[in-house]
Amino acid sequence: MADKLNNGAESPDGGDDRPDFRLSGVSKHYGNPERPVLRDLNLDIAAGERLVIIGRSGSGKSTLLNLLGALDRPSAGEIRYRGQRLDTLDESRLAAFRRREIGFVFQAFNLVPTLTVLENLLLPAELNGLPRRTAAARCQRLLAEAGLAELAARYPDELAGGEQQRVAVLRAVVHEPSVVIADEPTGNLDLDNARRTLDLLQAHSGDRGRSLVMATHSRQVIGRATRLLEIRDGRLVPAPC
Ligand SMILES: Nc1ncnc2c1ncn2[C@@H]1O[C@H](COP(=O)(O)OP(=O)(O)OP(=O)(O)O)[C@@H](O)[C@H]1O
Ligand SMILES: [Mg+2]
Repeated sequence: MADKLNNGAESPDGGDDRPDFRLSGVSKHYGNPERPVLRDLNLDIAAGERLVIIGRSGSGKSTLLNLLGALDRPSAGEIRYRGQRLDTLDESRLAAFRRREIGFVFQAFNLVPTLTVLENLLLPAELNGLPRRTAAARCQRLLAEAGLAELAARYPDELAGGEQQRVAVLRAVVHEPSVVIADEPTGNLDLDNARRTLDLLQAHSGDRGRSLVMATHSRQVIGRATRLLEIRDGRLVPAPC
């Protein structure tokens, strides 16, 4: 099973082709250990790939994304990021990893309502130590490239849902993370806004060597996958793209 899922992500001599993530024997249960949500998963995620996870509601997609994004820890097994174990890091190191290396996009946008669009983007940039002027210039450039420059001074509740989600994508990539994790990123959007959001996600991943991992029920999102996996009975099985 592991070999099938790995797609030869690692070069024979190891080296710089190490996968972004390597999960080995990962299980996760919340209540009853006899009934794990995820069972003994083995998975490599290569730098630059667009991996989409599908599965029925409650199958464990968000659970898996939360493990990858270091929002939660596995009940058993190892998670390595570029060779480094995450599952044994203490809370502060895990938080630092998350802040630096991961960009999150959620279904419900999750912008800070009391901050303007520009301030929402500045937050992760400054948390990662970028000087304010550099951060501001980068945020303005990202907004301009996304055609959202005129929204900079607005508050999230002054934006349409599709605009909020595109800002949320920019916020997830402004600190140039290695991995973008998007949990049902188009769940609240119509087809056109979903397409624009996916275009933006794609523009900031893939050929920049940044991997993108998405969980979804949407055909539109599935259509962007370079690899599609389904969670079934707690295990990952390949699905045709
Ligand atoms: N924090 C938690 N505490 C206890 N149980 C949880 C917790 N988070 C998730 N679960 C349970 O784990 C299972 C998997 O949930 P998860 O949210 O990963 O599913 P999902 O595939 O993302 O579903 P959906 O498609 O509806 O988003 C569900 O049975 C859920 O009730
Ligand atoms: Mg979910």
